[in-house]
Amino acid sequence: MDGDPDRLRQAVELLLAGELVALPTETVYGLGADAANPEAVAGIYAAKGRPADHPLIVHLAAAGHLAQWAADVPPAVHDLAAAFWPGPLTLILKKQDWVPLAVTGGQDTVGVRVPAHPLALELLAAFAAARAPAPAGIAAPSANRFGRISPTTAAHVREELGEEISLILDGGSCEVGIESTIVDFSRAAPEILRPGAITAGDIARVTGVPPRSRGGRGESGTAGTDDAAPRVPGALAAHYAPRTPLRLADSAVFSAELARLARAGQRVAVLAHSAAAPRDAGSFSGWRAIPAEPAAYACQLYASLRALDALGADLILVEVPPVLPAWQAVVDRLCRAAAKASS
Ligand code: TXA
Ligand code: MG
Repeated sequence: MDGDPDRLRQAVELLLAGELVALPTETVYGLGADAANPEAVAGIYAAKGRPADHPLIVHLAAAGHLAQWAADVPPAVHDLAAAFWPGPLTLILKKQDWVPLAVTGGQDTVGVRVPAHPLALELLAAFAAARAPAPAGIAAPSANRFGRISPTTAAHVREELGEEISLILDGGSCEVGIESTIVDFSRAAPEILRPGAITAGDIARVTGVPPRSRGGRGESGTAGTDDAAPRVPGALAAHYAPRTPLRLADSAVFSAELARLARAGQRVAVLAHSAAAPRDAGSFSGWRAIPAEPAAYACQLYASLRALDALGADLILVEVPPVLPAWQAVVDRLCRAAAKASS
């Protein structure tokens, strides 16, 4: 873990110089750059291989910095910020005129959040102090190559992007483990663009109004085809994917499906939350048990998929969690990983 003041000072200096710094957050690791510097932001797109029209989230030191970045902030957003920041909630708002289009993917909206990881907060506070009174924010997408699994440890970041990044701050394993909930407040009705640890129910309890849902996968809503909606790469089916093809199977048919694949000579790597490993588990490439509780499952999901992906199996078979609201974000990520595998 990196808590040392020299490393933080070095990180701030690198950010001020337009360099990239990877930082831990409570959700996943981010690939950070000075959000007010379009050239620094261009470096993020180059390192990730991400298309330039996909907007980035701007991370702020505190909710008090919101007005420097966002315009026309509705009262409900202040209530949500008070309830959930620092935390895994990203809010999409009309941007202030000065906010570079490089960071918003050319759109007139900006995504902002205050992350809950202590090291991220320390870095953001130090960066803001160095910049004051000018606005300071760190633009940071997940620190993976475009379309790949988000990193939840510093080692994941090093494996994938080590050569592109000036400094990786190590904050240990991410507690939440999947990306933040994104809610769009820039248009008439609030809408969840990406499900996460903070659920539609959590948001409705604070705002009094249930947000609409873009039909993240693994829920009953319809898939989003709203052309006026901003582009969200997280909304592409082909996202968050391991290299090994990944397939989902219901608990009820799980052992039958495994037996069928074994008969077909497939080398299978398994991720199971309730299914018990068969006696001859040795005949599988790998078997990983994962907790049957949504928060603990989310926390381990990406590291588990990376580990299974590394086994060189023909197929990763995942036992599908229950399709219940509390599991929505996890089921969403699993469905995306499976969609990539079959395309
Ligand atoms: O938990 C997280 O959100 C992590 C950590 C590092 O904060 N970040 C993350 O970033 O997942 P990224 O770039 O992998 O995904 C950010 C999502 C993208 O789907 C992007 O399109 C969306 O946020 N987004 C950002 N600004 C937006 C905007 N103005 N309008 C619509 N979507 C936006
Ligand atoms: Mg990402």
